[in-house]
Amino acid sequence: MNESDKIFVAGHRGLVGSAIVRELQRRGFARLVLRTSADLDLRDQAAVRAFFEQERPDIVYLAAARVGGIHANNTYPADFLRDNLQIQTNVIDAAWRARTRKLCFLGSSCIYPKQASQPMREDALLTGPLEPTNEWYAVAKIAGIKLCQAYRRQHGFDAISLMPTNLYGPGDNFDLQNSHVLPALIRRLHEAKLRGDAEVTIWGTGTPRREFLHADDLARAVVHLMDVYSGEELVNIGCGEDLSVRELAELIAGVVGFTGRLVFDPSKPDGTPRKLLDVSKAFGLGWRPTISLQEGVASTYQWFLTHRQELRG
Ligand SMILES: NC(=O)c1ccc[n+]([C@@H]2O[C@H](COP(=O)([O-])OP(=O)(O)OC[C@H]3O[C@@H](n4cnc5c(N)ncnc54)[C@H](OP(=O)(O)O)[C@@H]3O)[C@@H](O)[C@H]2O)c1
Repeated sequence: MNESDKIFVAGHRGLVGSAIVRELQRRGFARLVLRTSADLDLRDQAAVRAFFEQERPDIVYLAAARVGGIHANNTYPADFLRDNLQIQTNVIDAAWRARTRKLCFLGSSCIYPKQASQPMREDALLTGPLEPTNEWYAVAKIAGIKLCQAYRRQHGFDAISLMPTNLYGPGDNFDLQNSHVLPALIRRLHEAKLRGDAEVTIWGTGTPRREFLHADDLARAVVHLMDVYSGEELVNIGCGEDLSVRELAELIAGVVGFTGRLVFDPSKPDGTPRKLLDVSKAFGLGWRPTISLQEGVASTYQWFLTHRQELRG
């Protein structure tokens, strides 16, 4: 990328998009094109084509998507599948038509089969059945990867697909109905502390293992890989280490200062037993994460305390 490049960051108000914008600005990129979903609904094909015709961005980061946890995926399967198929198809196609030089599509580690051997390598894609609780979202994301590969093969379009692990950080979604496990635990344990609750009940057994990466580390990876990587194979982005949901809850309780009991409810679904990405490819391309989980949770909690009046939900 050159400093004179015009760059469209789709989803710039989200967790990932806002981190990418911060990283691009930090590196001196000033020609950023940004639109909220109210200004430009990426599900609207005609509007997306008109926008690309007019703006003609050189580079596109596709970080707009309908995103949510197990509950949201289970409740709105049609929305998750349709919105994500529409957003990614419209943006990838319009970018190619408008002669965008390079596009980065962001998928998710949920694209891998439920029983994929751990840590999950990029070539585990489409080797087995998906985790049913988020298959709608995963199927859309797999279609996005395939679309990037197909446009590369048929049209020579330089579209790369990166697969981040679970992310967290400033600007995360703390809505109790729709959020991921880490921000949901920060909010619940904080509110339990304020009420002086003796215990907090957490969905599932606490044994599933998960990996977490700070959004600023992801943004550094994504902007770096746009410079050094071009190819149809996906690239995982994670920290290469996982911990159990129980360990995560204990870490967050320590940061938040919740001293009550953590109770696990095994009648609620656990999701995939373990999700750890094999990140040797990304590490081999010259990137390493820099923010420890303890440090990242502490700064995200500070962000939550400062912004909690404005939060959704
Ligand atoms: N969060 C994670 O743990 C995680 C993990 C792996 C991968 N990812 C990937 O990273 C990407 C972004 O996730 P995120 O966590 O940053 O999500 P997020 O915080 O919910 O942000 C999503 C963004 O998408 C935009 N958007 C949604 N629907 C849109 C529409 N119809 N038209 C235009 N914009 C629309 C929203 O724009 P407005 O704010 O303007 O409404 C929002 O800024 C996704 O592709 C996701 O798969 C995320």
